[in-house]
Amino acid sequence: MARNKEPSLPRFRLLMAGLGNMGNHWLRVLSAVDDVELVAAVEIDSELARERFEQYHLEPKLHFTSYEDALRETRPDGVLLVTPPAEHRWMSIASMEVGIPVLSEKPLAESMESGQEILAAAERTGVLHMVSQDYRYRPPVQTVKRVLDSGDLGAVGSVTVGFFKSLIRSGFHDTLAYPLTIDMSIHHFDLMRFFLGREPRSIYGRAWRTPWDWWKGDSSTSVLLEFAGGVQVTYAGSWCATGRETTWIGDWRFECEHGVVIMQDDRVTVQRRTTETGLPQGYPQYLNEKPKRVPLVKMPVERQGMTLSQFCRAVRTGELPPTTVRDNINSFRMVWDTIRSFETGQTVPVEDSP
Ligand SMILES: NC(=O)c1ccc[n+]([C@@H]2O[C@H](COP(=O)([O-])OP(=O)(O)OC[C@H]3O[C@@H](n4cnc5c(N)ncnc54)[C@H](O)[C@@H]3O)[C@@H](O)[C@H]2O)c1
Repeated sequence: MARNKEPSLPRFRLLMAGLGNMGNHWLRVLSAVDDVELVAAVEIDSELARERFEQYHLEPKLHFTSYEDALRETRPDGVLLVTPPAEHRWMSIASMEVGIPVLSEKPLAESMESGQEILAAAERTGVLHMVSQDYRYRPPVQTVKRVLDSGDLGAVGSVTVGFFKSLIRSGFHDTLAYPLTIDMSIHHFDLMRFFLGREPRSIYGRAWRTPWDWWKGDSSTSVLLEFAGGVQVTYAGSWCATGRETTWIGDWRFECEHGVVIMQDDRVTVQRRTTETGLPQGYPQYLNEKPKRVPLVKMPVERQGMTLSQFCRAVRTGELPPTTVRDNINSFRMVWDTIRSFETGQTVPVEDSP
C-alpha cells in the first residue's frame, strides 16, 4: 500500500476480512489510497489468500485465518467486513464489543433479526458501525440527486426503476431464497431513500424464477412502493435477464411536476415541459422542450473510495457519516418488508424506526 503523504496524520490502521470477489475489488481500492495501512487481512480460504497476497504484494504475516486473533493481535483503528452477509453480525458485534469501529459491506446482515442485533450493539457500545452503500457515490447518481434537489423540476410524483442483468454466481448466493432482493435490490432501495429524501410507507411485491432460471432462489422481482407524501415507485429487476442489460445502477425515470429526469446507461437527461394557460378552451397546454443531457458531476473520490474516506474521517473526528447502521436499517428493512410481501401476498406497511 502507498505511503502517507501527510506526516502529521498517522495512517489509519485497517483490518479487512474476506478476500473473495469483492475483497479483490477492495484491495485495489486500498492500493490507491495513501493514508490507510492494511494491518491484517483475514481469510479462511488459505489458497485464495495466497493468490491475493501475491497479486497485491502483501507481507505474509498480515494473513490471519481467525478474525478474533487478528482483532486481538493488531488492535486496528477500524475493520472492513467483506465477508458473506451471514458473517456480518458476529464480526460486527465482536469488533464493537472491544471498541473497534466497523465498515461493513452491504447488505447489513443475512436477516432482519441480525440487522437489529447489530444496531442494538452499536447503540449499546456507542461504537461506529457504517454500511458501505457505495452506489450513492457514483457520478450519475450524484448528478440526478443534484437535479432533483435543485427544485427546478418541482416535486417528484413517481419513479420507475428497471434493473436487468444476466449474472452467474455461486457460493453464498446459493443459500439465499431471494438473491436479487437481498444482495442487489438493497442498493436500489437505498438509492430510492437517497434520491427522494423520504422514507417508504408501504411495499407490495412478487418474486419468481424464470422458466430458464439458473438461480436456486427467486432471481426476478416486481415491487410497488409508496413513499411519504404519496410518491409512487415501481421497481422491476432480474438477475436472469435475456437480451439488453441495464447498468448496475439500473435505468431510472423520475416524473416531476415540470418535466422528467432520466438516468439510463449511466447518462442523465432532463426534459422540461412548459405550460400555457388561459387558452380559449380553458385547458392548459403542455409543451415538451428538447431533452437535455446533464454533464455528470465530477467526483475526485468515488464509490468505495468515498465510503472508506467517510469511515476514516468519522473515526478520527466523530462526525457521523450518512450511512451509519442507524440510517441503513431503514434501507435494510425495505428488503425484509418486500420479502414479507412476497410470502404473504399482502401490501406491507413500513414501520418507522424506533
Ligand atoms: N458493493 C458492491 O457493489 C458489492 C459487490 C459484490 C459483493 N458485495 C458484498 O461483499 C460481501 C462479500 O461478497 P463477495 O461477492 O466478495 O463474496 P465471496 O464469497 O466471493 O467472498 C467472501 C470471502 O469471505 C471469506 N470468508 C467467509 N467467512 C469468513 C470468515 N469467518 N473469516 C474470514 N473470511 C471469511 C470467504 O472464504 C470468501 O473468500 C457481501 O456482503 C456482498 O453482498 C458488495
